[in-house]
Amino acid sequence: MAPEVVCIASWNVDLIARVSQPLARGQTLLASHFERLPGGKGSNAAIAAARQGARVGLVARIGGDDFGQMGLDLWRREGIDSGHVQRAHGQANGTALILVYPDGDNSIAIYPGAGSGLDVRQVEQAHDMIAAARLVMASCEVPLAATQAAFGWARAQGVTTLLNPAPAMALPDALWPLIDVLTPNEGELHQLAALESTDRAAQALLARGVGALVVTLGARGCRLYRAGHAPLAVAGHAVNVVDTVGAGDTFTGALAAALARGADWPQALTSANAAAALSTQGRGAVAAMPSLAQVQRWLAQG
Ligand code: RIB
Repeated sequence: MAPEVVCIASWNVDLIARVSQPLARGQTLLASHFERLPGGKGSNAAIAAARQGARVGLVARIGGDDFGQMGLDLWRREGIDSGHVQRAHGQANGTALILVYPDGDNSIAIYPGAGSGLDVRQVEQAHDMIAAARLVMASCEVPLAATQAAFGWARAQGVTTLLNPAPAMALPDALWPLIDVLTPNEGELHQLAALESTDRAAQALLARGVGALVVTLGARGCRLYRAGHAPLAVAGHAVNVVDTVGAGDTFTGALAAALARGADWPQALTSANAAAALSTQGRGAVAAMPSLAQVQRWLAQG
């Protein structure tokens, strides 16, 4: 069966150290824990969508070392179609250096590695898979030219497009009107619009042609902005946070899965909020990502 959600995806080795405080320039600290775990905003969102019940396909470029095989094995276990994943033998996998602080928050530096070679030709090879999908998503960890090509093709085929603009960066003028759904956090929103007021920044991005803007607010939930509609706020959840790595990706993937199965906005946002909150209760990006049944059970328990 064809994937319902296609992800133009990054794939990273996450090197995660838990430290007592943010590092100052020139400072060295001893870490209390270290782990090497799967990551990459694209792969994370794809796994989140798959656990929320969507059939998912990837367009990705991974490195030739052992960690590339770990990605292929992980996606097979998650039931994700990796037929359009290219293996760049002789190139390194994407790598993320992550510091996690005692409150679960983090800082991340990303080296894209083999993923920086994901190009328009590779997207064209996946045209049939994209055309048969309901939604195509990407983050800013993959080359923007590939995302623009995928979104342009998706738009022509009537397939919904969703961009997680992380890490925040200037987007080409032609990409903005191809985005049906944009999922920045508050910091990314302010950076993209170069405005400090969340409401004004959201309106500025809608004026660039974005269809719907979902601003994620961490424990405060999220807010939906659409042209001609009042903003819709959906409350967040208070949970015992262990690690927020991948929470935004979980939100994006769960939202993609919900929209692809035809959920309305309040249902889709409620379910994405819950999935993201549950994902912060374990270490690393993917370990605590919940299934659809876990989200439904948790919401039913109030
Ligand atoms: O959003 C979390 C992700 O950002 C990590 O998995 C890391 O790989 C970086 O891409």
